[in-house]
Amino acid sequence: MSAKSEVEMLNKHPAETEIGLNSRIRHTELELLHALLQSIDYGVLVSGLDRQDIIANRKLSQLFGINAQEVVNTDPDSVRAYAISRVKNKEAFVSLLERAYADPLLSSTDEIELEGEPQVILRRFTAPVYDKTGNPTARLWTFLDITETKALRSKLEEQLDHAAGELLAAQKKAVEMEKLSTAGLLAAGIAHDIRNILSAMQIDLHSLPPEMANTVQDHLIRFSTLTHRLLAFSRPGMVERRPQSVNEIIEGVLSLIRANAELHGVTIHLDLATDLPSITADFGQMEQLFVNLCLNSLQAMDGNGGTLIIRTRRVRDWIEVKFEDTGTGIAPEILGRLFDPFFTTRCNGIGLGLCSCKRIVEDHGGEILAENSMKNGAVFTIMLPAMLFPEE
Ligand SMILES: Nc1ncnc2c1ncn2[C@@H]1O[C@H](COP(=O)(O)OP(=O)(O)O)[C@@H](O)[C@H]1O
Ligand SMILES: [Mg+2]
Repeated sequence: MSAKSEVEMLNKHPAETEIGLNSRIRHTELELLHALLQSIDYGVLVSGLDRQDIIANRKLSQLFGINAQEVVNTDPDSVRAYAISRVKNKEAFVSLLERAYADPLLSSTDEIELEGEPQVILRRFTAPVYDKTGNPTARLWTFLDITETKALRSKLEEQLDHAAGELLAAQKKAVEMEKLSTAGLLAAGIAHDIRNILSAMQIDLHSLPPEMANTVQDHLIRFSTLTHRLLAFSRPGMVERRPQSVNEIIEGVLSLIRANAELHGVTIHLDLATDLPSITADFGQMEQLFVNLCLNSLQAMDGNGGTLIIRTRRVRDWIEVKFEDTGTGIAPEILGRLFDPFFTTRCNGIGLGLCSCKRIVEDHGGEILAENSMKNGAVFTIMLPAMLFPEE
């Protein structure tokens, strides 16, 4: 039975409730209602529209430390003054009281904290009590002790925050790991290159005819450029968007990737459109994007050689960049999962490369798509918004 009907029953003069009931049933029913009201976990108070308190239950007495009988028999202003003295935020407590008695139709709920230790927080609820014809005749107030629930909730929230924090840290670490592993892969190729450079230098040093001096110097420059590029790639940089030439970034990436391509027996062809508008992009992120796609292609052509073609062209207001390889291609059933974090089919893969590619492309307002080429390899297409009105 709802609180509303309890109160209706209890408020009615006995003569009114007798209609159709014998007095024994009525008596039992009233007793039941009374027992119910006394045993529920809510503090209950019902007052008339004239603010005179009509019913208060035992729980209300416990919560506010005032006898239920006293609440009903004492003048309401002094009961309220006492209640106000018991709560912390008196203004908010009085405010709802005033609003509720000014507007007989108001329903509202809030939280109130009691004075003193230990902390007690109550959820206060008020609503009109209606008569048979639907007019408000009284006002119901309930108070529920939610201290424990609240403490539990904040503890849970704290735990949740903590877990979310840990997840974020793990994610960050994983992304760093991916970058490190990419740098590691690049380093393998570059080490190979460096060995070649050094062995060339050894020959050079043996016979050092003057005309070879320039070659030695060229090798040294190449050596230091490569190590610098590798270090710059591995370092987590500040994200900074500037006008960039996609073609230039690709040509730069090629110097990082060439040694790896040679190791894999892969030929790289560039088919770059001239007069391509710039893009607004972070250089480091674009480099990471292209290196990841190149390395994936090289890995897909592992051992068997092949060709990687990188194309750029303008398509309306977009710059399209395509990486087309002659590798294994992508099984149709995994096409939809390639960009998921940690999805990998390689035994030493981490599965974050394409996930970070997608994030980078989308951060730049673009899109990335994976499909199979006619030649059974894979094609990754990136669309990036062209900068049509170069900034001053
Ligand atoms: N060019 C490609 N050709 C074929 N499969 C590819 C290619 N690029 C990516 N994949 C597939 O997508 C998966 C996820 O790639 P990625 O996110 O870079 O993670 P990882 O390289 O660590 O496996 C790879 O394991 C591979 O199955
Ligand atoms: Mg990868």
